[in-house]
Amino acid sequence: MQQAEAFLTTRTEEETAYIGEMLGRILTEPLVIALKGELGAGKTVFVRGAARGLGVAEPVSSPTFVLMKIYHGRLPVYHFDFYRLSPDEELGELGFDEYLPGSGIAFIEWAERLPGLLPPDYLLVHIEHFYDTKGEGRRLWFHPYGHSASQIVETIIEAIVWRTDGSLNTQPTR
Ligand SMILES: Nc1ncnc2c1ncn2[C@@H]1O[C@H](COP(=O)(O)OP(=O)(O)OP(=O)(O)O)[C@@H](O)[C@H]1O
Ligand SMILES: [Mg+2]
Repeated sequence: MQQAEAFLTTRTEEETAYIGEMLGRILTEPLVIALKGELGAGKTVFVRGAARGLGVAEPVSSPTFVLMKIYHGRLPVYHFDFYRLSPDEELGELGFDEYLPGSGIAFIEWAERLPGLLPPDYLLVHIEHFYDTKGEGRRLWFHPYGHSASQIVETIIEAIVWRTDGSLNTQPTR
């Protein structure tokens, strides 16, 4: 069942990475996080920030050609990108089940390429590219499926610090 959803607006790559970082900081239990959005939406930027929030020190780069990368943070971080897979690919044969979520946080770009991949409990982050009078931006939609994802969405919304002009304060006191 889908619970309350929310969105945040960003204007720069740094702001999107910052929201990812805030998410990464509050994660303490294994979770699957699916990222949806067109090419160049900012999915990898978001995962890069989230990995930082999870204490990953290594640089995070797109796993488009290798399908999966593993990083070591407070929890293991699994970063998938299924852009190059076709829907008739046999999920079992890929051998990824043990990571979904396994003992870590599994970020999955282009999860919709593999129907049946996602567990009943997961967080969907949908990044929408938009243009308005101020220029371009991204809308980050949080769609939680299940109880733990819902709690995480509530916590992240509370943790974000806004400036009085409505922009994100990406340098809060820690
Ligand atoms: N507000 C913003 N948030 C995130 N990225 C932004 C923003 N504004 C501009 N960008 C730019 O958009 C691009 C996002 O690239 P990114 O690789 O994260 O996309 P992606 O969704 O992972 O694409 P792909 O489907 O190809 O993997 C970067 O070049 C980044 O600098
Ligand atoms: Mg990407």
